[in-house]
Order: sequence, then C-alpha cells, then structure tokens
Amino acid sequence: VVLPERLVLRPARPDDVDQVAALLADRGDAADAVDLRLVVSDPDEGLSSCAVVVDGTQVVSTATLLRETLVVGGVEVSAGQVELVATRPGYEGQGLVRALMQWAHERSRARGDLVQIMIGIPYFYRQFGYAYAIPMPRWRAVDAVPPSDPHVVVRRATPGDIPAMRSLQDAAQAPATVRMPHSAACWRWLVARDGSTQWVAERDGSAVATGRSTPPDEGGALGELAAADAPAALSLVNHVRSIASSELVVAERPGTLAGDAVEPFLVPAESRADWYYARIERLGPLLERLAPVLLSRLAAAGLADRTHEVLLSSFRSHVRFSIGPHGMSPVVEGGPLQAPGSAGGSGVPPDALAPLLFGPEGAAGLAARLPDCYLGRQGELMAALFPPVAADLLTFYLPV
Ligand SMILES: CC(C)(COP(=O)(O)OP(=O)(O)OC[C@H]1O[C@@H](n2cnc3c(N)ncnc32)[C@H](O)[C@@H]1OP(=O)(O)O)[C@@H](O)C(=O)NCCC(=O)NCCS
Repeated sequence: VVLPERLVLRPARPDDVDQVAALLADRGDAADAVDLRLVVSDPDEGLSSCAVVVDGTQVVSTATLLRETLVVGGVEVSAGQVELVATRPGYEGQGLVRALMQWAHERSRARGDLVQIMIGIPYFYRQFGYAYAIPMPRWRAVDAVPPSDPHVVVRRATPGDIPAMRSLQDAAQAPATVRMPHSAACWRWLVARDGSTQWVAERDGSAVATGRSTPPDEGGALGELAAADAPAALSLVNHVRSIASSELVVAERPGTLAGDAVEPFLVPAESRADWYYARIERLGPLLERLAPVLLSRLAAAGLADRTHEVLLSSFRSHVRFSIGPHGMSPVVEGGPLQAPGSAGGSGVPPDALAPLLFGPEGAAGLAARLPDCYLGRQGELMAALFPPVAADLLTFYLPV
C-alpha cells in the first residue's frame, strides 16, 4: 500500500497519545479515548500495539492490534483483533486504514497469530480479507422484571474480583466449541474503563454472577452474563434493570446457566443476529494447529479406520494433507487449483474458510448455500472434519 506523499505510517510514540485519543473521541465515542490510554499503558500491549499515520506532526489515522486467544475444541489459537480505528475527516478514502490494516496483519503474522477476529462497520473489513463467520448474541429487551434474591448483593467489580469473574465466564463458555475468553489485559481494562460497567453479584461473600452493561443514559445493554445459579443471574438483571433509564436489552447466551435462567424474562427474539468478522490468511498452519481437533472429529465420526487424502482448494490456493489412524500429516500448501472436484477434493472459496472453521453452518451447510463451495467425493469426510460449531466470544467492546 502506497500512502499519499508526505504521509508516514509508524508505531505510535508517547507524544502521539493525546492526538490519537482526541481523534478516536472525535470519530467515535469519548470512552474510546479512555480505552486507548488503558491499552497503550498496559504491560501486555503497550504503545507498540497502536500505529498512526502522520502528516507532519499531526496524527491523521490510527488503528490498534490487540492480542487474543481463540480456543477451538480445547486447542488454543493465537489471534489478533483490530480496534480503535479512525481517520481524520479530510484524509478519508485515501487508503490510510487499508495501510494500517496491512500493518496490523503483518504484526499479527509476525507474532504467530493464525486468525484475526473483528467487530466492525458493515462490509468495510471484507476488503481486507475478513468474512462474516460467527453470529453475535442477539439483544433482547427485558419484558418482565426478574425477581431478586435477598441474599445477593450486586456491586461494581474491582480488580480483586477478576479471578472469580474469569471462572464464571470460563464455566459459561465451556459448552461452546469455539470460544474467546477476555485476555488478562482486557480484564484490567474492563474494571477500569467508563464505556461499560463491570458488575459482580455476591452471596455470602462469594461471587455468584457477573455481567457488563453500557451506561444507563445510553438506554442500557447488559452482556456477558454468567452466573453460578439462576437466582444470582436474575438478581443481576434485576439490579441493572432498576438503574437503566429506559428499556434494558440483554445479550442472549443460550445453553448457559445464566442465559437459560433469564430467557423467560426476555421478549421473543425478532432481530436477526449480527456477525463477527474473522480472517484466515493461511489455512495450512491453522489446520496443523487444529490437528488434535480434526483427529478427534474423525474418530467420533467412525472414519479413523483408514487414511484419507484431503484436498481442499480455495481456487487461488489449495492445501493437501492426510489424516487417519496414524495421525495427521503436515499440511502442504499449493497455488491455484480450479477444479478440485475432478481430483477428488473439495472447493471452498476464501471468504468461506472462516465460516467453515468457526461458524454454525459447517461444511455441509456452506455447500448447500454457496455455488462455489462443493464437497465432492470427500463430502462425508468434510462434514465430519468441519461440523457446525457454536461459538462464544468475549471482546473488549460489547457487540451491541
Ligand atoms: C471508516 C474509516 C475508518 C475509513 O478510513 P479511511 O482511511 O477513509 O479508509 P481507507 O481509505 O483506507 O479505505 C479503504 C478503501 O475502502 C473505501 N472506503 C472508505 N470508507 C468506506 C466505507 N465506510 N465502506 C466501504 N468502503 C469504504 C475507500 O474508498 C478505500 O477504497 P480503495 O482502496 O478502493 O480506494 C473512517 O471513515 C472513519 O474514521 N470513520 C469514522 C469512525 C469509524 O467508523 N471507525 C471504524 C470503526 S470499526
């Protein structure tokens, strides 16, 4: 990416921070300025996680790459998330964010990330290799105020509550095949930032529920609800509802203790889900990382009695590997391969790869929907290796 003359892209320096904060507040929300300072002063992220484009001494565009871990079937996959993106009016449409995304992806690749996840404005990030891959929770209004347990006290969380909140979230995420917990750094920001309030509910001095809400004057949205029991979850919703200035919406979390407890108090779902973006730059290394997951799926499908040669082409490039009773081979990457079906393989277009690995449709569902996704003779194997999966992601920003 070539930047317009005079403009320079570089990591942020200490004396840029005020300007970056002002730019983010101007183009987004006042809370973004607070968030930026939390990120760049955190020992796990720091200033080098933020890049700027400058025109002389003026910061005209910025983006920040956060460290994340995606857990897929129990296997940890190092990931990146781009946040805090903005360009100064007058400098838009000149490729500055395109250049910053390239910087972020190079940094992400260099530190070993195999995936990038994002929450972003509609369509824009598709231009940089992202696909809509994972449904976000739907937000549903509280219909009837749930009862409060008189033995439960709800209060703002402090840093000392982080271990207890983390274990409540771990339990809530356990049923999901694909999950992204908050990083240690993100937990520090959540109890310090003012863009959302982190709540903890206690009974007899023990944390029994947690959740996070947007400021009451913004209407109130309560997400990331997790609880040890149903009365604790309901008490937390009751408390946040009592301080909301208007209708409270709650992020559904089906299959979790808290989500199922709150379900009867929510209006029926009417909105369709929004989606997280995900980006897979190279399929080969990711599949190698996920070998234990693929092997256990093969065994669960009763297909581990013989070795299978897998060919998966994304048309511009393809991968081959074998998988069977003796394990999984290294994944060999190759160039354009137009007709994988005639070679016994499957075709999956690049923008269906993240949905294939992390999404609710699986190989068979994608093949039923997309004309350029077809499984061919290895259809049964593809359906076994890439089933529909449920995901639960925790992100710095509530996906509201
Ligand atoms: C959205 C925003 C970040 C884009 O920044 P930018 O520096 O203008 O983006 P770029 O010029 O690098 O855009 C890359 C390409 O997308 C195009 N583009 C710009 N804004 C777009 C949009 N909203 N939707 C689709 N395409 C867009 C550009 O024209 C450019 O096209 P080209 O490479 O074919 O010439 C900027 O407009 C902004 O700060 N908006 C307000 C804050 C915001 O929405 N932040 C994003 C939060 S996720």
